[in-house]
Amino acid sequence: MDKLLITGGQPLAGELRISGAKNAALPILAATLLSDKPVSVGNIPHLHDITTTLELLGQMGVDLMVDEKMNIEVNANHINKFEAPYELVKTMRASILVLGPLLARFGEAHVSLPGGCAIGTRPVDIHIDSLIKMGANIQVEAGYIHATAKRLIGCHLLLDKVTVTGTENILMAAALADGVTIIENAAKEPEVTDLAHFLNKMGAKITGIGSDILTVEGVERLGVENLRYEILPDRIETGTYLVAGAITRGRVKLKNTDPRILDAVLVKLREAGADIECGDTWIELNMHGKRPKAVNIRTAPYPAFPTDMQAQFTALNSVADGIGLITETVFENRFMHVQELLRMGAQIKLESNTAICSGAEHLTAAPVMATDLRASASLVLAGLVAQGETLVDRIYHIDRGYDHIEEKLTQLGATIRRVPN
Ligand code: EPZ
Repeated sequence: MDKLLITGGQPLAGELRISGAKNAALPILAATLLSDKPVSVGNIPHLHDITTTLELLGQMGVDLMVDEKMNIEVNANHINKFEAPYELVKTMRASILVLGPLLARFGEAHVSLPGGCAIGTRPVDIHIDSLIKMGANIQVEAGYIHATAKRLIGCHLLLDKVTVTGTENILMAAALADGVTIIENAAKEPEVTDLAHFLNKMGAKITGIGSDILTVEGVERLGVENLRYEILPDRIETGTYLVAGAITRGRVKLKNTDPRILDAVLVKLREAGADIECGDTWIELNMHGKRPKAVNIRTAPYPAFPTDMQAQFTALNSVADGIGLITETVFENRFMHVQELLRMGAQIKLESNTAICSGAEHLTAAPVMATDLRASASLVLAGLVAQGETLVDRIYHIDRGYDHIEEKLTQLGATIRRVPN
């Protein structure tokens, strides 16, 4: 397994281009299953999870063409298998996103139950219960969700919890259902909004986009000639590189992004002392060489502070001036990075779902181990500022969600390289 070797102490400076959003590309690629016309999707990030998704669609019989710029042409008219097998789902939980579209368009889906992961049990009960309420017949046995439906029926759903992929699965199912579906307590993440815009471009009739009440008037079919859709920028990749600039007291400019979709992160970076300027498609952070100030964070569904930025801010607080409290309210076990940061000299105390961070003057490099996607990002960030050479192991986690991370950090002046096992 590859590792990343990072020599810390260098304030980052420079600019880089942000990739398309992983968590928008995954549902939008799944949604192409609904279309009876070929669809072209652009600004797809070059990530392992995307490769897994293409493999998943390909083994169903979907025709795929990928060009060198990662523009993907999808034709879902020759599908001959309605299955998401365990060997693929176990590597990427988001495979559950084919359940709604397969059921809605083909009336059949056999999807392996996605297991839990390092950050939590990750149940899909809301996905399943909602589809049953829409008329699906669902049996869960031998680790698989077996679903059939003559035609899904629109209905009024009030979701017990805000669930991003749950909302996405229901949206895709409702697009071809008979009648109107109302989704109350829907997730409002920008990636859900991007999916809804994509579905409407294919001919769906979704209103309330961006709010927590989505109304979907089901249609007979989806697909338009020559549809080409560009994925929105990745707000979590953007936030991660902004923290890289802040933690190293540097100055970074990120292009091809959108400051409007990560407001909560920008508010907290300004509280940490960052000087931030924004344009329509760019964000510049400048620390003017100053040490960041500690900030208090409480994660919650959008537009509150994103759980996917919690680990990165735990690393930032580890070297900040003062005491910062970080409370995780979305997942039950999303502090796996803390143990590794402690090995680098961080002073963090865990009390229930809150990390109490007392900023250290500096961190010391150490061999550390990534446990999940965002935890691995926080260890890389800590390595950028630690004295010495930090070796981050199990970085297959990071390759799932960050497009060419060492090239991008090198562009900002970091000393980082991938070392084979
Ligand atoms: C999505 O996961 C993202 N993944 C996650 O990003 C992100 O952390 C999460 O949303 C929260 O923003 C993708 O979009 C592919 P949830 P998802 O359903 O949809 C509970 C990353 O780093 N819940 O919104 O799986 C669940 O246990 C990844 O890119 C149920 O109880 O998360 C959790 O406590 C990590 N029953 C809460 O809801 C359900 O049926 C939010 O989970 C579904 C969810």
